[in-house]
Amino acid sequence: MGHIITSVAWLLLLLANNSFARNVPAVIVFGDSSVDSGNNNAIATVLKSNFRPYGRDFEGGRPTGRFCNGRVPPDFIAEAFGIKSTIPAYLDPAYTIQDFATGVCFASAGTGYDNATSAVLNVIPLWKELEYYKEYQAKLRAHVGVKKGNDIISEALYLMSLGTNDFLENYYVFPTRRVHFTVSQYQDFLLGIAENFVRELYALGVRKLSITGLVPVGCLPLERTTNILENHDCNQEYNNVALSFNRKLDKLISKLNRELPRFKALSANAYSIVNDIITRPSAYGFEVVEKACCSTGTFEMSYLCSDKNPLTCPDANKYVFWDAFHPTEKTNRIVSNFLIPQLLATFR
Ligand SMILES: *[C@@H]1O[C@H](CO)[C@@H](O)[C@H](O)[C@H]1NC(C)=O
Repeated sequence: MGHIITSVAWLLLLLANNSFARNVPAVIVFGDSSVDSGNNNAIATVLKSNFRPYGRDFEGGRPTGRFCNGRVPPDFIAEAFGIKSTIPAYLDPAYTIQDFATGVCFASAGTGYDNATSAVLNVIPLWKELEYYKEYQAKLRAHVGVKKGNDIISEALYLMSLGTNDFLENYYVFPTRRVHFTVSQYQDFLLGIAENFVRELYALGVRKLSITGLVPVGCLPLERTTNILENHDCNQEYNNVALSFNRKLDKLISKLNRELPRFKALSANAYSIVNDIITRPSAYGFEVVEKACCSTGTFEMSYLCSDKNPLTCPDANKYVFWDAFHPTEKTNRIVSNFLIPQLLATFR
């Protein structure tokens, strides 16, 4: 009798483990540098980060092409779902479809919803991330079989995070979009592209999607540096643009959830947590928020963050921002820990 009970208990445990694993078998990522794990290494752009000091706190001190001293949010999220601790970049030749079957990143630093944004630094446009994803689906089905491939595709958790560059690298820098769109019209234009993108994903079998809008982009060190009129404070106009963009994004997500059967999208809004970190840095153990760790911390990123620069801070954990545009791993971890319970509750 005791034997049987033990066996039944084991069987239940096995079943529980299996269903746990089956619920989210992979994490698949679209977006910009907030989530890119190194796709730009493989393309002809100046926007790269596959050299030190980038990655100095990553496993093995390895610069992977993440715009960070360590890991980015999809890595923490995949780990929380019990999948793996880092998500490889699709264009990284060190990985194969076997690795990508449990998670893959199509994101490209510098990209946006708008084709004109990716064109600025010659990075991967969003429509091309989708083309790579279609190619991935075919490779996946060839590798694991059609049935299992389709299961992975529909049960995987998809993460989307972009939009910052559309405003900060494009709309506010070049007149091209500004002469045609007010801020509000441009937001609607971007969200129209977002809607089409999600509907295409849905048609391809995607069912579990998390979308992250904008953080307080007016408080990025680069934006403070250029905010001379307001004494290098946060650019409040940009923060307001981020807030209204997020409100519109929430409406879009609700609409898609209403209209698409068996589809679930979550608004993984990181504005409030990042704003709290910026407003009360010491509550999180940070000492510096206005400037980044890399170099002078005022405008440097990518090649301007060089290992030869003696000004780079020794301990990135004291800094909210790693370079003038990107958070440190510690900030990424805090933001991820804020989002993970919502993601687990919604998708596991
Ligand atoms: C972006 O470019 C692609 C490829 O040329 C095109 O198919 C797509 O319609 C463009 N998107 C927008 C919103 O113009």
